[in-house]
Amino acid sequence: DIRGVIFDLDGVLTDTAEYHYLAWQKLADEEGIPFNRQANEALRGVSRRASLMLIIGDRQYSEAQIQEMMERKNRYYVELIQNISSKDLLPGAIALLDELKQAGIKTAIGSGSKNARTVLEKLGIADKVDAILDGYSVQQPKPAPDLFLHAAKQLGIEPKQSVVMEDAAAGIEAALAGGMWAIGLGPVERVGAAHVVLPSLKGITWTDIQAKLNEAVR
Ligand code: G6P
Ligand code: MG
Repeated sequence: DIRGVIFDLDGVLTDTAEYHYLAWQKLADEEGIPFNRQANEALRGVSRRASLMLIIGDRQYSEAQIQEMMERKNRYYVELIQNISSKDLLPGAIALLDELKQAGIKTAIGSGSKNARTVLEKLGIADKVDAILDGYSVQQPKPAPDLFLHAAKQLGIEPKQSVVMEDAAAGIEAALAGGMWAIGLGPVERVGAAHVVLPSLKGITWTDIQAKLNEAVR
């Protein structure tokens, strides 16, 4: 019996995944490090530090330089999200959140981003969910299950009563490691490990989700 849904934020409820990419691209360009959209696939849903490590590869930087680059990328990102609003919610997001509330299903945000609260407030949905877990909530980032386990705990439900909505391979891995149901949003090449794969939340109802999960266990 499913009692709660935990939503990743970037790339699930809004397209901030694109802004994370653009901010990293600007930093990489400034540093003269080869980087592109294709290389960015490996960064989707990955923490700020781990993302930077993937970009710099075996290039040698001091801890101070690493800190400075993380801060610089974040400045670019914060600037890019300045003007987002409820019009930046992805299709289907609000309808599903409202339907879940009607159905008495608990909802949480489980984002690895330290900017998640700002983004949720700009989108106007901070008050629509029962719990918000962000980049400050746990030590171990996705693909560790900690953030999602913490979210389920805050909702007062068991992992196996929880569904996670994710657009990133690291997030699907985290959900599965936590013993939760995983719904992947996006291409199979990225989220194929999930119990159910959907192109996006567009037109997706709670009834659809329950039916797909039932099919997945049969
Ligand atoms: C989410 C995003 C990642 C981002 C991470 C940290 O997981 O999908 O792209 O790197 O959060 O975000 P932050 O805003 O704290 O740098
Ligand atoms: Mg994401």
